[in-house]
Amino acid sequence: MDRIELKHVTFSYTLAENKALDDVSFTFEKGRFYGVIGENGGGKTTLCNLLRGLIPNFFKGELSGQVLYDGTDMKDLDVDALSVDIGYVFQNPFTQISGVKKTVFEEVALGLENLGVPPEEIVKRVIDVLKLLEIEHLALNNPTELSGGQRQRVAFASIIVMDPDILVIDEPTSQLDPEGSRRIFDIIETLKKRNKTIVLVEHKINMIAMYCDEVLVMKDGKLVRSGSAQEVLSDVSLPSLGVRLPEAAQLAYDLADKGMPLQGIPITDAACCRMIQERWGIHGGN
Ligand SMILES: Nc1ncnc2c1ncn2[C@@H]1O[C@H](COP(=O)(O)OP(=O)(O)O)[C@@H](O)[C@H]1O
Ligand SMILES: [Mg+2]
Repeated sequence: MDRIELKHVTFSYTLAENKALDDVSFTFEKGRFYGVIGENGGGKTTLCNLLRGLIPNFFKGELSGQVLYDGTDMKDLDVDALSVDIGYVFQNPFTQISGVKKTVFEEVALGLENLGVPPEEIVKRVIDVLKLLEIEHLALNNPTELSGGQRQRVAFASIIVMDPDILVIDEPTSQLDPEGSRRIFDIIETLKKRNKTIVLVEHKINMIAMYCDEVLVMKDGKLVRSGSAQEVLSDVSLPSLGVRLPEAAQLAYDLADKGMPLQGIPITDAACCRMIQERWGIHGGN
């Protein structure tokens, strides 16, 4: 089933003055793609830590409320065992590289090795994932001698290779250029087609608009908005929550201000073009 349910979850890191999560209730359903946005310090990474079961086991602090994984309280589940079901790509790719392996190939194989997967299967799965992420050429490189973007892809590969049902991905494109980011989103889209549940923290709002089913907005530890991507990302109050509107939505609001409203508020460039064509009867040349 793979559903994660948060009920009135409040968490403060030890010695921190503010609540990192403040009364958050939300249910993550299987096979859906969730985008998590919000200003720095809003609690996005803390939410990821919680979903992966690292709070309160690894990150210490004061936790109240409940986190249920298929109805069982996460507190009662083993953090290591959970890693098979829930993959977590950390915000900082430098913390994800183990430092114990000499090649990217071995690094990506590490998790499967720890699970005792037969060597032939490990080789096959690692090669598949290196191809998927287009990092085959790095297979024999030393993981500690990669660029930030390369490390980010290796970190991602070492999680995908485990084939978890749920993927929690914290800012996977922060070290990548637009083309690299686009490829990561294509891979995430492929994972979605495999019916994975995906929770993605990402600042690139246009990407969130194009790919996510649902969007959550975090501010000061509170879940201040949640709903369909269309609903949340076309909300004119988004900037007051510390998040930019997608360019398409901003353009629609600017046009409306000038007395030229579109039929709705588009959140993607494609939807925006369609609405502009409909509004002014502009058609392509073919
Ligand atoms: N390991 C930690 N120890 C203490 N406070 C932390 C820790 N990690 C995050 N915080 C605090 O928790 C709040 C939420 O941070 P975080 O979840 O990292 O937000 P975001 O990912 O949205 O930037 C911030 O006030 C931050 O300073
Ligand atoms: Mg963060």
